[in-house]
Amino acid sequence: IGQVDDVQELHRAGLETVPERYIRGGDDRPGGDNVCALAHIPVIDVGELTRDDELNKLKLACEEWGFFQVVNHGIEDELLDEMEELTREFFMLPLEEKEKYPMAPGGIQGYGHAFVFSEDQKLDWCNMLALGVEPAFIRQPKLWPTTPAKFKETLERYSAEIRGLCRRLLAHIAETLGLAPGTFGDMFGEAVQAVRMNFYPPCPRPELVLGLSAHSDGSAVTVLQQDMSCAGLQVLKDGAWVPVHPIPHALVINLGDSLEVLTNGRYKSVEHRAVTNSEQDRLSLVTFYAPAYDVELGPLPEFVTDEVPCRYRRFNHGEYSRHYVTSRLEGKKTLEFAKIDQT
Ligand code: SIN
Ligand code: FE2
Repeated sequence: IGQVDDVQELHRAGLETVPERYIRGGDDRPGGDNVCALAHIPVIDVGELTRDDELNKLKLACEEWGFFQVVNHGIEDELLDEMEELTREFFMLPLEEKEKYPMAPGGIQGYGHAFVFSEDQKLDWCNMLALGVEPAFIRQPKLWPTTPAKFKETLERYSAEIRGLCRRLLAHIAETLGLAPGTFGDMFGEAVQAVRMNFYPPCPRPELVLGLSAHSDGSAVTVLQQDMSCAGLQVLKDGAWVPVHPIPHALVINLGDSLEVLTNGRYKSVEHRAVTNSEQDRLSLVTFYAPAYDVELGPLPEFVTDEVPCRYRRFNHGEYSRHYVTSRLEGKKTLEFAKIDQT
């Protein structure tokens, strides 16, 4: 696939336009009239989810959006700030320093560009650092940055907190479906957790490029922390892109493909993308929480009815993960892997 440019270096070079490989076709460009700037994804108070009205809000958020922000989530602001600061410091290092943790071609961990498989593929205006975190056997310790010095230890603490939040949220999500709170926790076994940090430098032609191609997540749930500098994440809702405006110390949660399959489509893994701007850089820290690789997924019997026949076949989650990371980010296309043709 040849050499993929590092977009921070392109930005540093002071380009006035962007290389051809970043320029999207018309429909894919961010500036269309299908951006709905006034809508907002729901905000859920995690501390209030023991109350029926807040739990019902969560249910509606899952049904109608597949995306919501959480506040009062129990993770200390200081830890979120520290993780963000250290991640920013990492991306600000000279390229030679970051390349000490290279993502292998076709690999998924380290510093580099995931999801690039061909010369003709459009590229995202984004640099990534991706690391497997749990279970321990997926870790590649050589790819964990040793600079900044506190990065590793902070990422450990951060990931442990985010893991706890994912478990709590999955218990509440189970409740909104009328399932026992432990349903997903029990089913997922020793859940797989990975983190991807995305850095989007300013882009001279933001109307022509995407920071991250539209996709849905291959996880069960995803927790996204974004810096306050500017909005960039957009969520597809009824055919329009809705920007997610940062709320200080809130976390953005979205449901992934596992939950769409398990609920037979009652809850959807919603498409989202990132856009850039010419003024400011943007950072996002994204944690993917997914079933253990040996777990078999398929619609739970309670969601297969006469009105809603079974939409997905059963499959091994490890097999799906491999399929996901060897496919381009292309909307909901990856999940076609499991779709049963309804015609
Ligand atoms: C993602 O979907 O992984 C990241 C989107 C963002 O940077 O907000
Ligand atoms: Fe995503």
